[in-house]
Amino acid sequence: MKTPVDIAVTGAAGQISYSLLFRLAAGDLLGPDQPIVLRLLEIPSAMEALKAIVMELNDCAFHLLHKIIITDNPKVAFDNVDYAFLVGARPRTHGMLRSDLLSQNAEIFIVQGQALNEVASRDVKVLVTGNPANTNAYLALNKAPDLAPECFAAMTMLDHTRAISQLAEKCGVPSRDVKNVMVWGNHSCMQYPDLHHARVKGQAALSLVDDQWFVNEYIPTIQHRGTEVIKARGQSSAASAANAIIRHMTTWIQGTEEGDWVSMAVPSDGSYGIEPGLIYSFPVTVSNGQYHIVKGLDLNAFSLERLKQNEVELIEERQAVRHLL
Ligand code: NAD
Ligand code: LMR
Repeated sequence: MKTPVDIAVTGAAGQISYSLLFRLAAGDLLGPDQPIVLRLLEIPSAMEALKAIVMELNDCAFHLLHKIIITDNPKVAFDNVDYAFLVGARPRTHGMLRSDLLSQNAEIFIVQGQALNEVASRDVKVLVTGNPANTNAYLALNKAPDLAPECFAAMTMLDHTRAISQLAEKCGVPSRDVKNVMVWGNHSCMQYPDLHHARVKGQAALSLVDDQWFVNEYIPTIQHRGTEVIKARGQSSAASAANAIIRHMTTWIQGTEEGDWVSMAVPSDGSYGIEPGLIYSFPVTVSNGQYHIVKGLDLNAFSLERLKQNEVELIEERQAVRHLL
């Protein structure tokens, strides 16, 4: 029997966690022979709801679920954890932008960044999902000076899988035939899903679809998909977000497929002229548990303009929370 691995999930009584926790306990992250300890963080008013979820988790008799710890103290939740899923935050509702959440959610990520800094494993992988994800990750990272910046990422994997799926549907192929899609920038309506290097069954994607569809249909569909889900469901995406969380973290652990990449919002190293330190979604490859921004891609003026717009938006978001740092 392997030693159990500690995994923290914040917002454990929320919608996304209702899907995520059961997938973690079933072995979808670390495989069928790795026991886990779930360290679940919630606010005091959600503890009763969380206890019900613990009952349900126990009722599943998952072979890999060694122990469940519930707490409202981030230092207990993050104690020596190898993986931290920062999901807990208010979601937006109809008519809001994700950036409208900044003032309500920023404090959460300040406190959690400090706690991670104090008690998490020095190799922890922290994935921020709570919105606005890029800037929340920026806050957490900056409050954790003793952890390497590479320990942090924000989630644009849901945008990435949306980008794959929409292209696959247009081309009438299964998703597995689509490679090298990428989503640049902010997890906001400004994000830029870019097909200039994408391939469908090895062929250049932009040779298979017309430019008008790419610019006027594809890009806005991905940019506004979260809004459309909220409009249709009355609540923000949850199961697809949990799936993307698992896909992001398994990729971060296991690596990317040969010849392909994924989109992750990670600290900029200045690539493509993006201000260093901003948490910006880039195409990345992953090997040995480390992500590497894909360098040297040719970007035309259309793409460069969209990359810049995202940088400007992230600088504005950072400006809005500067007083908290
Ligand atoms: P939800 O409201 O159902 O659940 C959020 C949970 O977080 C609640 O149970 C709440 O009590 C808890 N919480 C609040 N403050 C907390 C704190 N300080 N510590 C621990 N827990 C805390 O929301 P949800 O649908 O699960 O979404 C969670 C977040 O994820 C939202 O901000 C949403 O916008 C975001 N989201 C991001 C993506 C993405 O692609 N990055 C996708 C979907 C949703
Ligand atoms: C999404 O992209 O579905 C989430 O960020 C939720 C939202 O607010 O759109």
